[in-house]
Order: sequence, then structure tokens, then C-alpha cells
Amino acid sequence: MNREDFPILKNELIYFDNGATSLKPQCMIDAVVDYYTNYTANAHRGDYDNSLKVDAIYDYTREIVKDFIHAEQKEEIIFTSGTTDSLNRVIFGYFGVYLKEGDEVLITKSEHASNVLPWFELADLKKIKVSYIELDENLHVTLENVKAAITPRTKVISLAQVTNVIGDVRPIKQISELAHQHGILIVVDGAQSVAHMKVDVRDMGADFFAFSGHKMCGPTGIGILYGRRELLNNMRPLEFGGGMNATFSPNGVRVYEEVPELFEAGTQHIAGVIGLGRAIQYLSEIGMDLIHKHELELRKYAIRRLKEIPEIIIYNEKSESGILAINYQDIFAQDLGIYLNNYHICVRSGNHCAKILREDMGIKNTCRISFYFYNTFEEIDHMIEALKNPNIKNEII
Ligand code: ALA
Repeated sequence: MNREDFPILKNELIYFDNGATSLKPQCMIDAVVDYYTNYTANAHRGDYDNSLKVDAIYDYTREIVKDFIHAEQKEEIIFTSGTTDSLNRVIFGYFGVYLKEGDEVLITKSEHASNVLPWFELADLKKIKVSYIELDENLHVTLENVKAAITPRTKVISLAQVTNVIGDVRPIKQISELAHQHGILIVVDGAQSVAHMKVDVRDMGADFFAFSGHKMCGPTGIGILYGRRELLNNMRPLEFGGGMNATFSPNGVRVYEEVPELFEAGTQHIAGVIGLGRAIQYLSEIGMDLIHKHELELRKYAIRRLKEIPEIIIYNEKSESGILAINYQDIFAQDLGIYLNNYHICVRSGNHCAKILREDMGIKNTCRISFYFYNTFEEIDHMIEALKNPNIKNEII
């Protein structure tokens, strides 16, 4: 779908690494170039036309994001540098104050490093406990296992909506209903979901929701933190400086802005904000349901074709996203990635920043194929042809 919108696809390229980042459509590139070429100015600082134009687009983008994820107010949308930044802000800025010694956070072993390491750091600082919800035989999260993991000290559950290796779609709505009955807050890492399916933060009951622009046709270095307004009102900023203060005096008395400006100190990534807004408009024009449907069809087709090759091991057949984790018997995952590169096929090999998953998975590395709406069945056929090469092992050695 929509391949003509992506200038990079004019090259000989089969791009199956969308879990890492997406390709960029011309309309998004044009929006960024237009800002740098025709109306460069800072936001919220000038009284001249170009600066006022930047203000208007910057603020309108908050509205675009709000509508896209179905938040209630645009003030609940904070621009960050990406999912990692968003999660760090919540974990240290909100939970660093909210949690007390002995309190507990529940995560899983398939979370990305960005949803593990900040919690480990906070555990050291605040003497809180990081515990794990057990994964089932498909490495999925079940409501029963969440129930079993909750203790009287559980104060927060922090989960990816879709994981970046197994690609399982978590039942966040049911988990948050259960959590809220126990007074537990829910942090959702949306890095692998928001680009691929319709997201409604209110319907799913997310208290916080984090994602990146670059995985959804937007620029790198821009991301979003959504938080319920009443929670953001009690979140501490991690950065202090221009743009987030109303006034301050020599004796240290200072008055800060309200949310969201409170969390946007310094000159922001304006080009990133503009590009993200355009990318979201672009995705909305295509339709998130259509995107999701196409990815599931690609997935189904790829599984059927991969099964023609007896040496292929698929680790996540039961997941419902465009992510497939595979290995080729007796070939190191990285070598397989390098081999596919000879055919201009881009995949990601390794542990994919989910380093504690290997205990439950029983293997260290996989080769990850991750689809997006511009991928085709013919591209999958090309990959299968390369994998069926009877000389594959000789070519790798
Ligand atoms: N988190 C990104 C991935 O899974 C980079 O590849």
C-alpha cells in the first residue's frame, strides 16, 4: 500500500525492520524541509509572523496527537525526544515521588530495556521492588498471571502494549480494569503499537502512554508522553530552564508554568513536532484499521511461506502483530541478517534490547522481521527465495 509515497522505495530495498524505525513518506519530509526552508523560527518566543506560524503549528500538532490517541485534553500531550525519554520522565518524575520504600512495580521479562532499566535505577534509589508477571507458554501476558502477580504492595504495572520481539498484543484494557480495582496505576509503552493499530488511551485505561514519532513515519528525536491530567499535575519535571517557568527571582523563588509547558524546557524539536503532526495526518488518511489488517495478512502469508523451509524456527506464531521472530537452524541470527542484506533485505538480528527475555525464550538471539503497510507479498516471496537457497550455509561461511 502507498509505496509511491516513500522515495527510498525507489531503490532496490526490501525493508522489514519497521520495529526499529519506519521509512519516511515524502509529505512528512516536505513538511520538515518547508519549516527549515521557509519559516524557521523558535516557538513561543517571537512576535513576528514566522514565529507566530510556528506557534500555531506546534500547538495544533498537540491537538492532532490528542485526537489520534483519543486523549481528553491537549494539555495531556507532552512532546519528548522518544519513548525512552517519555518513560524516564514518568518513572523518575512521577513514580520517583509517588512510590515509597517497599512498594512494588510489575513488569515482564519481555519488556524493552527502556521499560526495565529506569525501574531498576528507581529501585536502587527508592528501595522499591521490581517484580515480574509470569509469561505463558507463548510468552504472552494473561489476565490470570497478572492477577497472580499482584500483591498488596503493587502500586504500578508497566507494560508494552505490543512487545518488540514476540509482538504479542497485551490485553491492556482488561489489565487496567483489574489494576484500577486495586488502586494500581498503568504505564503503557506504545512504541510498537501506536503506528500499527488504532489506539484509544482512555478506552484502554492507560494512566500514562509513551511512544516515538520515528516508528510511525515521523522524524527521529520526537516522541510523546501522554498522562492523565490529574497525574501530570503531580509529576515533577526532570528538566528546568527557559519556557517552563513563569517567573523567578534572585532569592530562588520561582513559579513554573502549568502542564504541558512545565515539561518542555528549552527549545524543543520543532521540526520534529511539525513532521510528527504531518505523519499522523498521513497515517490517519490511510486509516489505522486498514494498516493493521494489511500487516496481519502479511504476517499470515509470511508464516505460511516460512513453513515451507524446514530449517526455519518461528518463535511467535501465536502473536497478532506484524512482528515475526525467527531463526534458521545452525545459522547465527546475525549471520542470517548479513546474508539477507546481500539480497537488499533489511531485518534486525540480536536480542533487540529485550535482554531478560532470553531466560524465558531459551535462546539469546533471533532474526526479527517486522512489517509495515508499504510491505508486499512479493517482498516476502523474495525473502523466501533467498532463504530457500540450497547454498545458504556456504554463502554465509
Ligand atoms: N526499540 C527498537 C527495536 O525494537 C529500536 O528495534
